[in-house]
Amino acid sequence: MTKPIPATGEALPVIGVGTWQTFDVGADRKAREPLREVLRLLNKNIIDSSPMYGSSESVAGDLIAELGLHGSLFMATKVWTRGRDAGIRQMETSFERLRVQRMDLMQVHNLVDVETHTKTLRQWKEQKRVRYIGITHYTSSAYAEVERALKTKQYDFLQINYSLGERESEKRILDTAQSLGMAVIANRPFAEGALFRKVKGKALPGWAKDYGIESWAQYFLKWIVSHPAVSCAIPGTGNPKHMQDNLGAGRGALPDEAARKRMASEFDDLR
Ligand SMILES: NC(=O)c1ccc[n+]([C@@H]2O[C@H](COP(=O)([O-])OP(=O)(O)OC[C@H]3O[C@@H](n4cnc5c(N)ncnc54)[C@H](OP(=O)(O)O)[C@@H]3O)[C@@H](O)[C@H]2O)c1
Repeated sequence: MTKPIPATGEALPVIGVGTWQTFDVGADRKAREPLREVLRLLNKNIIDSSPMYGSSESVAGDLIAELGLHGSLFMATKVWTRGRDAGIRQMETSFERLRVQRMDLMQVHNLVDVETHTKTLRQWKEQKRVRYIGITHYTSSAYAEVERALKTKQYDFLQINYSLGERESEKRILDTAQSLGMAVIANRPFAEGALFRKVKGKALPGWAKDYGIESWAQYFLKWIVSHPAVSCAIPGTGNPKHMQDNLGAGRGALPDEAARKRMASEFDDLR
């Protein structure tokens, strides 16, 4: 299943992968093996990284090169520093680590020095060094600042936290992004794994299979990507079985508004 990126209509698969913590394994060959298998399962999906994530960019870049997957993934990373020159240096390093000539998406991480980096990114977009530009955040305490940035109408993408465990962005932020024609990437789709602790040992509702939902991961992800403003979700995983499971949420029927409400209330009622 794909959704169109509003700025261009380009189709983007609704499930991608995040690399925070999971891909930060350095040169450890054994630890890289499952990550290679995670990447092998992808096709056109977004992979999201950041210079903040230790060795993750380098590990992803090496493995993508080994698998010959450059050109068949949607590569997203971030800038996370202060100052124009430091930002440029950091982004150049990300290009080298991820081994790309052109980045699909470059985002300002947590709005750090956002005005400075946005100027650089707008130039780089004109020069076709980056295809899309965006901003990210992960906590509702920053939503006022996020909203101010969105309203400058300079970005193609917003990456924000959204899950059954963290729903505050649906009050304003998601609608604002949608009305301004921005794609939305949902980060922390499992609230960093907390959602699985709540459903441990609990059976899925019987009706979930009507939507092709075969696991709690798919339940959580389908709820997210069926929001009309959301383009995709980027669950973090270093486990190929989990990646396969997560990709399953990109197939079959999507819940409608009534089904989404039911999914949320049944989740809330779990004890
Ligand atoms: N400010 C920002 O820009 C920002 C902030 C936060 C996150 N992000 C991005 O969003 C991505 C996702 O967020 P996150 O990694 O913090 O949290 P998350 O995706 O909500 O949760 C990750 C956890 O879920 C587990 N998991 C994944 N798939 C599973 C499955 N099918 N079944 C059971 N467990 C599963 C993972 O363990 P396993 O490895 O064992 O699968 C991991 O412990 C990050 O990797 C990063 O790329 C960006």
